[in-house]
Amino acid sequence: MDEQDRRWREEFPITRDLVYLNNCSLTPLPRSGRERIERFAREWTELGGRAWYDHWIGEYEALRDGIAGVLGAARDEVAIEPNVSAGLVGIASTLDYTKRPKVIVADLDFPTDGHAFHAVADRGARVEFVRSPDRVRVPLELFERAVDERTSAVCTGHVYFTTGWIQDVRALAELCHRKGAVLVVDAYQSIGAFPFDVHEAGIDYLVGGTLKWLMGGPGIAFLYARRAIAERARPSAVGWWGVMDPFAFDVEHLAYGTGARRFEYGTPAVAAIYAARAGLELLAEIGVATVRARHMLLSQRLVDGAIAQGWTVRCPRVAAERTAIVTLEHPEPQRVVDALRAEGVICDSRPGLVRLSPHYFNTVDEMDRALELLAPLRALAATA
Ligand SMILES: Cc1ncc(COP(=O)(O)O)c(C=O)c1O
Repeated sequence: MDEQDRRWREEFPITRDLVYLNNCSLTPLPRSGRERIERFAREWTELGGRAWYDHWIGEYEALRDGIAGVLGAARDEVAIEPNVSAGLVGIASTLDYTKRPKVIVADLDFPTDGHAFHAVADRGARVEFVRSPDRVRVPLELFERAVDERTSAVCTGHVYFTTGWIQDVRALAELCHRKGAVLVVDAYQSIGAFPFDVHEAGIDYLVGGTLKWLMGGPGIAFLYARRAIAERARPSAVGWWGVMDPFAFDVEHLAYGTGARRFEYGTPAVAAIYAARAGLELLAEIGVATVRARHMLLSQRLVDGAIAQGWTVRCPRVAAERTAIVTLEHPEPQRVVDALRAEGVICDSRPGLVRLSPHYFNTVDEMDRALELLAPLRALAATA
């Protein structure tokens, strides 16, 4: 382990005791995040409600700047959300399904990407699915065939949560716009994992959150809305923080806030703001390009090692096509996860899959340790 590895790992106390390979679910709390949460607790203890004005509203707006920075967006294009689901519900509430009832989602997408639009069925929405032919990728041609003049939106992942495959959202945006549909990107698994700029991609909406590659924990998510779209949007899912002047306390009128702000709801979870800001700052210090290089190195070590052991790998084999999500097929994945856990290696399961996701602070030695433990577990079901 070199000096840089050591410095990176000091920030994550969990690395002293465990080989932590579940970062695409939740990155562990960094030291700086813990310090910020403790600061929040002090302010709450010492100031009570005064803390809103002295600190918390300022922290909220600074968080908006941090999120805008990592997306390449302007601050008025960013709304802070309690989770991705809430952001999607807001977006789904803006669309007119009368002439364009179709919403296209992929079968590999995270459930909430479909649910938000199923829930507006009584307003005319009809969710249709494009189906991945190899259960890894969702080729552009499938969207090309599915999207037509009766399609209001495509809502799909930037990176698919069970395969790590990176979707070409720029090409998808171009395709959607040609047919008059909006593109909603679920970027929970991509933001922070590789360099990305929302304006360059030309997408309309994006949702994501801080608990995975952004290292900021649960409770904070975000919504990007392209300015031209945001200014016209009239969400029916609203809250008092999303209006033009929340502190006017006007119950009689609804004046939408400027830009994406109209997609915000009510009082935010302030401890989560503090942790989220620490995660974003840590990422800025490390650099997204460095994170990407480490992800490619570490995940390739796992993929190559697993293939050599005879595992069927679900994620793409080529590092350039995927993030640091490595999925291995197994009939009883939770048994594999439990066996690894007993030896101090933390990963996760999804139906039929063992999922390992290193982050930049993991080491090549840790990949080899996980592989050493995985070797006898491939045949676990057969010997049970
Ligand atoms: C791609 C993707 N979308 C959405 C979510 C979760 O969304 P929410 O913030 O609503 O819990 C996850 C988290 O696991 C995810 O991987």
